[in-house]
Amino acid sequence: MSRNLPALFQERRNFVKDKISKCVAELFSDLSEEEVKAVIEVPPEEQMGDYAIPCFPFAKKLHKNPALIAAELKETLLRKKEILCMESAECAGGYCNIFMKRSKYVEGCLAKLSKEHLGVEKEGTGKTICMDYSSPNIAKNFHVGHLRTTVIGNSLYKIFDKLGYRVIRINHLGDWGTQFGKLIVAYRNWSSKEEVEKKGIEELLRIYVKFNSESKRNPELLDEARCWFVKMEQNDPEAIEIWEWFRKISMVEFERVYKLLGVSFDSYTGESFYRDKVPALSEELEKKNLLQESEGAKIISLEEYGMPPCLITKSDGGSIYHSRDIAAILYRKQTYHFDKCLYVTGLEQSLHFKQIFKAVELMGYNWAKDLVHIPYGLVSLGGEKLSTRTGNIIYAEDILKEAILRAKEAILAKNPELENKDNTARIVGVGAVIFHDLFNQRIKNVNFAWNEVLGFEGTTGPYVQYTYARAKSILRKSNYNDSAAEIDCGVLTDDVTYALVKVISGYGDAVREAAERYEPSVIARYLISVATAFNKFYHECPILHAEQKQKAARLGLVDMVQKIIRDACGLLGMECPEEM
Ligand code: ARG
Repeated sequence: MSRNLPALFQERRNFVKDKISKCVAELFSDLSEEEVKAVIEVPPEEQMGDYAIPCFPFAKKLHKNPALIAAELKETLLRKKEILCMESAECAGGYCNIFMKRSKYVEGCLAKLSKEHLGVEKEGTGKTICMDYSSPNIAKNFHVGHLRTTVIGNSLYKIFDKLGYRVIRINHLGDWGTQFGKLIVAYRNWSSKEEVEKKGIEELLRIYVKFNSESKRNPELLDEARCWFVKMEQNDPEAIEIWEWFRKISMVEFERVYKLLGVSFDSYTGESFYRDKVPALSEELEKKNLLQESEGAKIISLEEYGMPPCLITKSDGGSIYHSRDIAAILYRKQTYHFDKCLYVTGLEQSLHFKQIFKAVELMGYNWAKDLVHIPYGLVSLGGEKLSTRTGNIIYAEDILKEAILRAKEAILAKNPELENKDNTARIVGVGAVIFHDLFNQRIKNVNFAWNEVLGFEGTTGPYVQYTYARAKSILRKSNYNDSAAEIDCGVLTDDVTYALVKVISGYGDAVREAAERYEPSVIARYLISVATAFNKFYHECPILHAEQKQKAARLGLVDMVQKIIRDACGLLGMECPEEM
């Protein structure tokens, strides 16, 4: 029997594991409860039991072979059968497999799920997390990479919020830098108020590209651009006015994407907000003897740590991305007193974050360890071509709109009678894009192919949403009334139902694991496990035509499944349609 666990989700901690590990630790005084708990597995197949204790990890410590340890464990556990709610135990190949008394176990699981928050514990109460994500650059397009940070960041926000943390959502807009000097020159030469108002970022991009090609032939343009940026840094009213207007124009477009995604922020303090905070930072670094001069610029040498230097001020005295980011860290600590500050950006910025985190550490702040970079992989576009406005640039908004359009087509083909088609198409289309982004580990590169995004089968958002709609439809058809539900757990013990109960009772663990690993894919995969177990249950166990007691219990279970799917989808930032 293969012991490689391909399970989509491994339940990690729960009340049964606690009790089992206590028993084991009592038997072998050399082992701690924690140590045992850490190895207890949930076997991939029903016939291997509900839990399995692999005994190999203990062989060395106990000076016994695993089979012998397993046999001793079995005897001990069997003696405590009643307290453990255990049916039986078996030894196989160095494992001790444990079978629970199903009705008791189901009772425990359902009781846990009926608690507030579906059994998710508020472990973050009293703690604060700053989350820096999305953070697009103004006057540049909101591309698929920004879509990833937005979707991953939003999901992590929801996960931590669910666990009771206070989360500050920060959009660290890229809204300062020499490029805006270029843009002002370009605007004054080749565009007009009307054009920019009409075409927005597209026009800003066009003139920026034009600036870059023109300045190759005419380097004077570069001097002019530098002048305009200096004006910006000196708060020249005319320069600031144009820059603020570019920022506003860009925000309108970003907000459209955020609205489609249902994403919002607590703060939009971007890079520009920190420009006047860099002199104080410089001074502090100077006092702490961390600054060196290099060709007129000020740097922190990181040679000792195998990294290139961290630039603090340029030779003209101006701030840069790095120093504005360090100033932001100090500001956030002061303002929000965070316990953790998380940054969701592409993997290619890893060095940047290593440098600035190191700088904060060198400044003597021991909380530098609470700064975490959460990187993600690249998005490539394979398969079918995406429709885009400009050919080689892929706008996030175009992807979302296209997804909604395709969802609408699918609805028209499959369920033309459906009411509220447009809203459902929006929920399904956007949900599909989000789910596709979050299903694989974030560090993996994403290949965007429409047939994988919008499929109604397989590991897709629409599959999960469809499962939810199916559960809701059963409840509607039966006029299910939550408060009247009295569940007899004894009728929920057949293999298929039992497997479903076990999956849904792992919700709290899934949420905790997703948070610990900063990994929304844990929730996405958990959802697929729930949907698959539920659909099996739906096909094999009649609900509406079952006898009274069974019907009531099964409906109660369906109700819990729909609550969990909706809640877990919410953690990914997806909505669920009532019908589809
Ligand atoms: N604006 C940057 C970009 O688009 C991301 C900023 C991430 N946040 C930060 N504090 N550096 O790549």
